Amino acid sequence: MPSLFDLTGRTALITGSVRGIGFSLAEGLGEAGATVIVNGRQQPAVDEAVARLQEKGYKARGAVFDVADEAAVIAAFQAFDEEGVEVDILINNAGIQFRKPMVELELKDWQRVLDTNLTAAFVVGREAAKRMIARGRGGKIINIASLVSEAARATVAPYTAAKGGIKMLTRSMAAEWAKFNIQANSIGPGYILTEMNTALIDNPEFDAWVKSSNPAGRWGKPEELAGTAVYLASDASNYVNGQIIYVDGGWLSVL
Ligand SMILES: NC(=O)c1ccc[n+]([C@@H]2O[C@H](COP(=O)([O-])OP(=O)(O)OC[C@H]3O[C@@H](n4cnc5c(N)ncnc54)[C@H](OP(=O)(O)O)[C@@H]3O)[C@@H](O)[C@H]2O)c1
Repeated sequence: MPSLFDLTGRTALITGSVRGIGFSLAEGLGEAGATVIVNGRQQPAVDEAVARLQEKGYKARGAVFDVADEAAVIAAFQAFDEEGVEVDILINNAGIQFRKPMVELELKDWQRVLDTNLTAAFVVGREAAKRMIARGRGGKIINIASLVSEAARATVAPYTAAKGGIKMLTRSMAAEWAKFNIQANSIGPGYILTEMNTALIDNPEFDAWVKSSNPAGRWGKPEELAGTAVYLASDASNYVNGQIIYVDGGWLSVL
């Protein structure tokens, strides 16, 4: 009997997957049998990530585009169409952080974070869903949310607004696309050891705060998100829609 979690024969586009959480999700989905499409803005970084995945025996290819550039996203999906690449699973993972007190925050920086962390998930999601609907065999969309989808922190207002938006965008996708057998869910990572958090990891006070406030007593590792992604990408979650699963060591439970 085939495993409920087997992704053999499915193709997964993971945005922002040259490193960090996105790369770990690519490894997880690759391990489950999917062909993964690695995305990033720089060709050399994408090529290197694809090579690392292939060395591990996973099926991988690359797609270089900026998720915040609508024309580039549309062109990338047109290129998939021309090459016969059908995206069955989309993970909207690409994201940026920008820390500044709100009274000093310029509109251009607010907009940049919203464009990358929220609007891009809509645009890439729309292009993927159009094709999933036309093919008639459904699909899976996983949007990467955050603890700040639930609980705000000072100095990261645009990131927090975007990740709060991701929660409701995910529910909107479920509301509109469930009838086409598309399941759209979110993963909300806790504090994870990636480059995005270098400044926080290197700050002894913040590091101590993460360890003392989290019931797990430690930061999360990128690979600890892969199992949830495989579940949400697989047939095991075919009646799960519009949900956010927090993978945070229990942090939100003790807020
Ligand atoms: N780390 C955490 O604690 C944490 C917690 C909650 C949620 N998250 C979320 O998890 C996701 C991944 O974060 P991470 O920690 O792995 O960050 P990261 O190590 O900084 O990686 C971010 C990835 O996104 C890519 N990216 C950024 N802007 C892009 C764009 N416009 N187009 C295409 N790719 C773009 C980056 O590639 P290039 O910059 O090289 O192009 C990189 O591959 C983000 O959505 C983040 O908000 C992270």
